[in-house]
Amino acid sequence: MSTRCKTAILISGSGTNLQAFIDAVAEGRLSLELAVVVSNNPDAFGLVRARNAGIPTACIEHGHFSSRDSFDCAVANKLDEWRPDLLILAGFMRILSAGFVERYRGRVLNIHPALLPAYPGLNTHQRVLDAGEKWHGSTVHFVTEELDGGPRILQGRLPVVAGESASQLQARVQALEHQIYPEAAGWVGEGRVEYRDGRAWIDGVAADDPIVQTFDLSGKRM
Ligand code: GAR
Repeated sequence: MSTRCKTAILISGSGTNLQAFIDAVAEGRLSLELAVVVSNNPDAFGLVRARNAGIPTACIEHGHFSSRDSFDCAVANKLDEWRPDLLILAGFMRILSAGFVERYRGRVLNIHPALLPAYPGLNTHQRVLDAGEKWHGSTVHFVTEELDGGPRILQGRLPVVAGESASQLQARVQALEHQIYPEAAGWVGEGRVEYRDGRAWIDGVAADDPIVQTFDLSGKRM
């Protein structure tokens, strides 16, 4: 992949991760070309963030489609106008069909707020607290047909604080995401990380485990 790889970001909501990509590119810490931001939700604040940064936007409302496949096909057709090298799912809360995954295999990244393979699915922060876990975090991974199950690239982890609420934990995890997601995407953009034969390859080595970065209570990488 080229060092200035053309990137599409898919969002559904607030877009704080999108903002982290915008800031990293603006500050010269990340050499991706942010070509387009696509949302399934017209009210997503991320669309405002994209427009403020001068990035083209498109909104394709899933409710206007009768099936997952027809929605995914419309998203893919829209994306193909930009011919992106890389797709970044940044809080894109739609499950992608097998056809979509196949079309962009190895070129789609997701961030999931848990230390995968633990806690796939929704409400991860509350589930982690309910289970009394000592550690929580977020995982950047390649997207495959298995929900939250594709090869993992980078995990950020932090200690759970006794007595904190799910929203406090979520805020700390999101702050960590803003550091690890642009970094991992940059590795893919540079070709340092790639998807091959169903696995993530990091620096030329098939990686069964992700790189793990630990963050302290102040949100600093240790
Ligand atoms: C992020 O925390 C991300 O991990 C999560 O949605 C949030 C989006 O926040 N993604 C998922 O739960 C996907 N299963 P943002 O819109 O502020 O970037």
